Order: sequence, then structure tokens, then C-alpha cells
Amino acid sequence: MSGPALRQLHAHRAIHEGGLSGAVTKTNDMMDYLRRGEEQIANEAANDLIDYWKTRVISHADAEESGFYLEVTKEKPELKEAVTMLTRDHDLLRIIVADIEKLREEEGLSPSVIQKFHALIVVNEIHSREEERMLFTE
Ligand SMILES: [Fe+2]
Ligand SMILES: [Fe+2]
Repeated sequence: MSGPALRQLHAHRAIHEGGLSGAVTKTNDMMDYLRRGEEQIANEAANDLIDYWKTRVISHADAEESGFYLEVTKEKPELKEAVTMLTRDHDLLRIIVADIEKLREEEGLSPSVIQKFHALIVVNEIHSREEERMLFTE
């Protein structure tokens, strides 16, 4: 998704809120399964959650970098540094997801994997807030 929807604060914020709330719900579901000792279902939920981060949140980041961010810096070169910082946030999300996938192969749904799933939520929440603040004020 690019163009008009990302350029309007309300529409863009709705994408952020939808993405975050879905991730929180899916993470909570996974935690519930773990608490009940339903390991296999918890692992399926973890697969689903990784897929969700890639298809809903990181794909949004990819779209921003290949369109919206380029448009913003073309129109307002003074926002270049903000875009660089926001792109680094995207990279952190990509790095954490890759680390989760690698660590899961070795450890399964270990405490450090669970910690990284929660870290994704925190990084994403701060990133979205900062993006709305830095790119949408006059
Ligand atoms: Fe973003
Ligand atoms: Fe965004």
C-alpha cells in the first residue's frame, strides 16, 4: 500500500492501530496457550504471529520505504534525517523477526524468543508514534 492512504494522517494512523492491535491479540493468544501448556498450539500461534509481522507490519514498512518516504523527502528535504531514523526502526523490526526465526530453530518457544515477540510490539508502537509525529506535522 502506498500513495494516498499513507499520506493522510488519519488513514495512516488507522493502519498503525490495526497492525498493532492484531499483533497484541495474537501475542496474548500465544501466551495463553503457553500458560495452559498447549505447546503445539502455541507453536502454531507463533508461526501465525511471525507471518503476521511480516505480512502486515514489515510489508507496511517496505511500502513506506519504496514510496511514501521517497515522496516525503523529495517534497521536504529537511525530513531526510527523520526518514533515516524511521528506516532504522524498520530495520530493527526486521532484525528482531529474523532473530526470532533463527532462535526458534535452536530453542523453540524459549523465554528469550517470547521476550523478542514482546520487544516487537514495543519497537513498533514507538516507531508508529514517532512516524506520525515527525512526518505529519507542518
Ligand atoms: Fe514505518
Ligand atoms: Fe507507517
